[in-house]
Amino acid sequence: MNILGIETSCDETAAAVVKNGRTVLSNVVYTQIPLHVPYGGVVPEIASRAHIEKISEVVRTAIAEANGAEIDAVAVTYGPGLSPALIVGLNAAKGLAKSLNVPLFGVNHIEAHLHTPFLDGDVEPADMMPALGLAISGGHTTWIDMPVYGRYEIVGQTLDDAAGEAFDKAAKLLGLGYPGGPKIDKIAKEYSGELVPFPKGRPRDGVSALAGLPAECCVSFSGLKTALLRYIQKNGGAEAIAASGDIPKVVASYQEAIVQAVAERTSTALKRRNCKALIVGGGVSLNSRLRAVLADVCKRAGVPLLMAQPKYCGDNGAMIAALAYYRRNKGGDEAFDLDVAPSLDFE
Ligand code: KG4
Ligand code: ZN
Repeated sequence: MNILGIETSCDETAAAVVKNGRTVLSNVVYTQIPLHVPYGGVVPEIASRAHIEKISEVVRTAIAEANGAEIDAVAVTYGPGLSPALIVGLNAAKGLAKSLNVPLFGVNHIEAHLHTPFLDGDVEPADMMPALGLAISGGHTTWIDMPVYGRYEIVGQTLDDAAGEAFDKAAKLLGLGYPGGPKIDKIAKEYSGELVPFPKGRPRDGVSALAGLPAECCVSFSGLKTALLRYIQKNGGAEAIAASGDIPKVVASYQEAIVQAVAERTSTALKRRNCKALIVGGGVSLNSRLRAVLADVCKRAGVPLLMAQPKYCGDNGAMIAALAYYRRNKGGDEAFDLDVAPSLDFE
């Protein structure tokens, strides 16, 4: 079964054709990042317009590069994400499925990120259950218990900023540009000296209780961001820090605080559950330090770490097609009635 997956939830216009949920026949990603750079973040209206301009070409290329594979179904992200961006992909997918006379499936973007480690591989997702999932991106930092395939229970999450957002905000404060994650990763890699002792993302007492989740499985990055801001002010501003050559030290320390916070909560969540594997997905899983530290956490816990190849870590259509193949939910007439769901949760 060949599924065409379409993704437009944020700043990537993407389409892919995937055979039987795992074999990627084509994967086309048009990134809008250069369009958003001047604004230091994603501007929803600019994203929407760029998706409209590019979607036909991206879909056409994905179909052409799949070497004549017949499309048996269309899958599309309907949430979570930016409403004006999601609507472009959803409408394109509805039109395409109607014109090809094939079924349409609506897909949860975050759930799809958790399918990226299986792309181009030979592991059946269901064989890895029970698993702990970690969705770590620009909008999410969430630990999810997956007792059997297709069932999700949130065991922990960020109580404020997502890890990717924390990276992006720090880069902005330090004048490093957008998106911050890859820039910080690259700079931090070259640094091996002493670190600034930034706070390690622990939630304030009682705050996680409001979210109904145990504090030891939650993170909060707002204190870390404030600590960075204070550090910058105390040291004469971002330009003065750059002039003194201390940017690598600051970003490596900040990255380490995020990575250690995520690693510690992951380790705790793994201990609380009887998991066969850790499944990680989302843009921040590209972070080289996070990859190394999570590998260590999994080694100590004695569970395999399932992480996507770097080319599937960011937003893409292949993960959308993959999830639709395995779950086949939100299909049939229900899919054609779907509206965008900017705050979609796991269900
Ligand atoms: O999954 P994604 O492409 O889009 C969302 O669904 O949010 O994730 C984007 C996020 C951005 O915040 C970006 O800064 C972050 O992933 N990111 C990274 C790295 N590459 C991308 N964060 C840390 N290190 C990286 N190497
Ligand atoms: Zn994403």
